[in-house]
Amino acid sequence: MAAFALSACSTDTPQSVLQPQGEFARKADALWDITFAIAIAVFVVVQGLLLYAIFRYRHKPGREAAQFHGNTRLEIAMTIIPALILLGLAVPTVATVFDLAAEPTGADVIHISVEGRQFWWRYDYTDLDIVTANELHIPTGQPIDLSIEGYDVNHSFWVPRLGGTQDVVPGRTSRLTLEADDPGTYLGQCKEFCGLSHSNMNLRVIAHDPGDFEQWVSDQQEPAAAPSDSLAAEGAELFVNGAADAQFAGGPSCASCHAIEGLDGAVGIIGPNLTHFAARNTFAGAIFQNNESNLRAWLANPPERKPGSQMPNLQLTTGQIDALVAYLQTLE
Ligand code: CUA
Repeated sequence: MAAFALSACSTDTPQSVLQPQGEFARKADALWDITFAIAIAVFVVVQGLLLYAIFRYRHKPGREAAQFHGNTRLEIAMTIIPALILLGLAVPTVATVFDLAAEPTGADVIHISVEGRQFWWRYDYTDLDIVTANELHIPTGQPIDLSIEGYDVNHSFWVPRLGGTQDVVPGRTSRLTLEADDPGTYLGQCKEFCGLSHSNMNLRVIAHDPGDFEQWVSDQQEPAAAPSDSLAAEGAELFVNGAADAQFAGGPSCASCHAIEGLDGAVGIIGPNLTHFAARNTFAGAIFQNNESNLRAWLANPPERKPGSQMPNLQLTTGQIDALVAYLQTLE
């Protein structure tokens, strides 16, 4: 219990809802502050009365413990007081719920369609013609209107410091508004058990100053550059067509599942769009740093690195991995 209590003293808490860093997270936190204060007051009063009664009416030598059988006035008071407290709490709660549920309006609202999939996040910037995965880039100080859809099973989208949580349910579109005060990286994750790699379904929100965000947008809107050297060109070829050897040929190629704008034939929609893969800090549900060794280990056996991954083990040879990694690293 001491360890549990002392965990509250930690300062390294990237996913703490109690340290909101945006307007919408702050509104939810303000509601929590009110509720917590009232809960503390109720706790102190109730436990105080309990302790008082225990000591005042306890059994002592020469005196039986006191017994009480019903007290109409007391019972009416014990019903009405909690009801009034709950009624009082309902006022700010309902107001905040409606406030947070309102669709943000204004010219500066960014609309993004979010899809939760086993086990990664797909983001479609509907007005900007950008599709990316896991790392959600946003400008600071602007409301981000997320329209959230389920693709396979239930998930839940949550970036604790920037906003509330939203269930992701197949067949239903839900809304969530986020906003970040300052540039930075905000961690989040899927909050609804969704299968073997539920705990590997992380995400990050990367907030930029508006000028930097515009730069990011224009970079993302460019198609992928053509491979710069022969190994990378070999990787691009492999990506689309598979290889001529027995295991990879004729089976699925990378392009069956992944799209890369600017690479002919790469239009798959099962896995993340990889157009600017090398510009991402992480991959595979934001669980691995995007570097060469992680990429090699991933390509060698995705389901081993991330249980339940939809990406199969394609039995790639070392040479094929060399070429694919060289190509993926050109996708700035
Ligand atoms: Cu997706 Cu848990």
